[in-house]
Amino acid sequence: MKDPAVGHPLKGKRVLVTSGPTREPIDPVRYISNHSSGKQGHAIAKAAAEAGAEVTLVTGPVSLADPVGVTVVHVESARDMLAAVEAALPADIAVFAAAVADWRVASVADNKLKKGAGGPPSLAFVENPDILATIAKHGSKRPQLVVGFAAETEAVVDNARAKLARKGCDLIVANDVAPGTGTFGGDANTVHLVTPDSVETWDRQSKDGVARALVTRLAEMIAKA
Ligand code: CTP
Ligand code: CA
Repeated sequence: MKDPAVGHPLKGKRVLVTSGPTREPIDPVRYISNHSSGKQGHAIAKAAAEAGAEVTLVTGPVSLADPVGVTVVHVESARDMLAAVEAALPADIAVFAAAVADWRVASVADNKLKKGAGGPPSLAFVENPDILATIAKHGSKRPQLVVGFAAETEAVVDNARAKLARKGCDLIVANDVAPGTGTFGGDANTVHLVTPDSVETWDRQSKDGVARALVTRLAEMIAKA
């Protein structure tokens, strides 16, 4: 008889994925954000669902359709994303693919800022919560496998190693987002898988390909754990 686990290696597992950018308001009509398309995170959510997992995708604003068979929670700011992630726990595996804005505007104007004699406004920033680090250090609620991404424009592997240690995750998927690589917004990705004791570089491939290979790897890791 066919083993049901073969086609669905994540059957019975709960997977949480973050994706897309966050938007940090300046005033009621303006915001600060970044170029994340959400393609890689959405592809991971879809691949995990296809592998039989029960998947929650927490996503910032993207122009992608919600993946089929996935519970999708739409958020805007980093603080909203953290709240949605906490509400989606417990999970067996959490993959943090979102490009979370590192800073938000310290005091959001209640009304639209107007041009005037005072010249352009100065914006003061405060740091957003680190969603990945918060969940990786969550004690009893920590997912068994916590996976981060590292968007780097230089010293990709060294920076990823430092992030792995600093954030307390089990695996970092490091990608080179330097201008000219076409990673941000593009359909392909070159990634390095960084664990505390190994580095593996995967051939450049589609973001769907990276997602499927990553899901296969996570299923192996969780089966062994
Ligand atoms: N991340 C997060 N919450 C944040 C910032 C980052 O969850 N406020 C997560 C991202 O989803 C990613 C990982 O942390 O999985 C690394 O994000 P990255 O921006 O590369 O790292 P930072 O720690 O923000 O460092 P820097 O941007 O200064 O390189
Ligand atoms: Ca960052």
